[in-house]
Amino acid sequence: MANNLFIAFEGIDGSGKSSQAKLLATKLESMGHKVYLTMEPTDCHIGSLLLKILRHHIKADHNTIALLFAADRIEHLLDKQNGIMKKLSEGFTVITDRYYFSSYAYNGTHTDMDWVIEINKMSAQIRRPDINIFIDVPPEVCMERINTNRATTELFENLDNLRNVREKFLEAFTKLKHEENIFITDGNRSVEVIADDIWKETERYLSMPAHTGV
Ligand code: ADP
Ligand code: TYD
Repeated sequence: MANNLFIAFEGIDGSGKSSQAKLLATKLESMGHKVYLTMEPTDCHIGSLLLKILRHHIKADHNTIALLFAADRIEHLLDKQNGIMKKLSEGFTVITDRYYFSSYAYNGTHTDMDWVIEINKMSAQIRRPDINIFIDVPPEVCMERINTNRATTELFENLDNLRNVREKFLEAFTKLKHEENIFITDGNRSVEVIADDIWKETERYLSMPAHTGV
């Protein structure tokens, strides 16, 4: 049995990733699993720089942004204290709010997607998620949620961009369907119904033989 999984939540801004990641973490913990909930961009030095770019405090070229996200991901994986690999080796189920498909979709909207996949190859070699969970919500609905909840919007949070990013997610899933486990759930439903859908899929992976890469 796979005791601890590596699960990545993906989706456009406002799709409900962090809500669902927390619900899944709580559910797993209630069943006795140790869970480490994390996110990208991270709160390390490269992640902090990315936040400044996303919040319009500093400007950067889209190629630079793609490279910074790829670098932030390596730190996220390999940090000696709180890295994903360390946590997995300690028996935690690791749930991350965004991983490399976010790079393929967001950064692949503004520069060549194949190049973005290339610069993230090392992360994929180090650890692919056991499941990539994509919460699919119409960009219009996400923009409404973002505008209701926040006074400011970040770099990629506009309707045209989110439409393109959603298309890029779907393109990346098709491109990598033979290498990646991808689960797409309709996120335009109630929080509880989506959580139930995600739980059923997670349970399936929990009953499979353990991952041998960690
Ligand atoms: P993300 O992490 O993808 O940006 P959040 O989980 O922060 O998304 O959700 C964005 C907003 O939408 C929050 O205000 C949250 O309460 C709300 N929300 C999340 N899931 C749903 C849902 N299924 N239906 C309606 N609103 C939702
Ligand atoms: P996040 O704060 O998770 O946004 P939200 O909670 O609203 O979904 O992510 C920050 C932004 O960074 C988001 O617009 C997506 C973008 N991003 C990239 O462009 N490339 C990446 O590799 C990642 C992880 C995020």
